[in-house]
Amino acid sequence: MRVPRHIAITMDGNGRWAAARGLPRSAGHKAGLTPVRLCVEECSRLGVEALTLFAFSSENWSRPAEEVASLMSLFLEAVDREIAELHRQRVRVRFIGNRQRLSVRLQAQIAAAEQHTAGNTGLKLQVAVSYGGRWDIVQAARQLAAQCASGALRPVDIDEDRFAAALELGGLPDADLLIRTGGERRISNFLLWNIAYAELYFSDRLWPDFDRAELSAALEFLAGRERRFGLTAGQLPQAGNEAKR
Ligand code: FPP
Repeated sequence: MRVPRHIAITMDGNGRWAAARGLPRSAGHKAGLTPVRLCVEECSRLGVEALTLFAFSSENWSRPAEEVASLMSLFLEAVDREIAELHRQRVRVRFIGNRQRLSVRLQAQIAAAEQHTAGNTGLKLQVAVSYGGRWDIVQAARQLAAQCASGALRPVDIDEDRFAAALELGGLPDADLLIRTGGERRISNFLLWNIAYAELYFSDRLWPDFDRAELSAALEFLAGRERRFGLTAGQLPQAGNEAKR
């Protein structure tokens, strides 16, 4: 089976998973760490280059204060507890999103985790926290505009490659596969630019129930898709559809 270079996952359904068990929503988020570990291990084992997880959106700040606080504590705890194991697995961890909205403590902790794993050559794991696809595009536009204003860049030199490099995932290949659990069939402002040619796999599983078999089903779905990148079927190379990579 062709191994994708970059998998993105919207981890949805934690709240419903907890409600079905009469538990607080925070218990669902906590249970969501198990499939996170599984996906990291499985992607590493398969030789996937990059895995990007949507953990907290720009819009999630509007949830009840208690839930936001419990998610922030979970991120603090998770980074603290998991980083040694991720490092052992040679995973390079990065966080994408508007980190200025995070507490100073969480900002410091994620910066330390990034620094600690920066030299690792295994899976590139991106955790999106306080992230929105539109925010990402705006921050990239702002960076380029500032460079133009200072005279370091000419507007005519802004092309797709230069724009992509200014995005949070600059330097990584586009996502080949976007998985969303929890039954909704929406993008919900995740990685808008980087999923331009991604295959979309929507799973009815709630995120805490996402397991190895469901990840395999998503990969089989991708393997069965013909990726044409706007070309006709006849223009594609015989083996694999890697034309635009
Ligand atoms: C969406 O489910 C899930 C979240 C907002 C949080 C996801 C976070 C984790 C799984 C923890 C991962 C942590 C790290 C550090 C990678 P929902 O609450 O919208 O569920 P619902 O649709 O059933 O209400």
